[in-house]
Amino acid sequence: MNIEFKDRTAIVTGGGSGIGEAISLELAEGGANVIIADMDMPSADAVVKAIRAKGGKAESFKVDVSDAKACEAMVAFAVKTYGALHLAVNNAGIGGPSAPTGEYPVDGWEKVINVNLNGVFNCVRYQIPAMLEAGGGSIVNMASILGSVGFGNAVAYTAAKHGVVGMTKVAAMEYSARGIRINAVGPGFINTPLLSENLDQPTLDALAGMHPIGRIGTPEEVSALTCFLLSDRASFITGSYHLVDGAYTAQ
Ligand code: NAI
Repeated sequence: MNIEFKDRTAIVTGGGSGIGEAISLELAEGGANVIIADMDMPSADAVVKAIRAKGGKAESFKVDVSDAKACEAMVAFAVKTYGALHLAVNNAGIGGPSAPTGEYPVDGWEKVINVNLNGVFNCVRYQIPAMLEAGGGSIVNMASILGSVGFGNAVAYTAAKHGVVGMTKVAAMEYSARGIRINAVGPGFINTPLLSENLDQPTLDALAGMHPIGRIGTPEEVSALTCFLLSDRASFITGSYHLVDGAYTAQ
């Protein structure tokens, strides 16, 4: 989709890999200045290099989204570098341990909640004041199909993603009249390093079979929806949760 983001500045957390990388590339192609915010700097720098090679504008920024002060510094960096913040995709996330709830490692619960739930709050907490300063903006929080349905052995991830959907609704109610639209996106299983580095091929095949469309999705398919929601074409869409899941949750 050809969407115009000229003169807009965007932050994409987890922009160095997978879904965040695809979104960063599409935003830059649309003319946005993109801050690739990630804790993995070699990956973030590689995405910056790819964007600049195509004539786009991007900078990397090292952040651990579970650290609120680091998220505040990330927003300040975007404003200092490009003058204002208009767009944000709070996408950084991790999978976490796989175990039933009664055996779930407590430290694993804390880590997943700190990154996947607290990390999104830490970002919107500082992005919203910057966007009010800029006269408005648009935020997409990356949830999951597990923002609306359950998945065995993934209690922390599922709880965090349900929390992201709730946080999105509240923030949108509070700020839509002041020019900031906030939505959540719920991908089905997507072919990224998060999956390929943690699961074997038989498991990946089984996951593909759980989607009525007959396959898992691509990062570009999530980016297309995310960039639409970020764009002015989605001007009446706020406070809602949008699936991109090959009919996974339709069953
Ligand atoms: P990925 O593993 O390819 O990329 C995640 C990126 O986030 C990496 O570059 C990583 O360094 C960064 N990151 C991780 N923890 C961080 C932290 N604390 N601070 C800053 N950066 C951090 O993963 P993928 O698949 O692209 O996932 C992106 C988002 O999409 C996540 O929120 C994930 O939960 C969500 N999602 C992914 C699905 C999938 O099947 N791949 C399905 C549904 C949602």
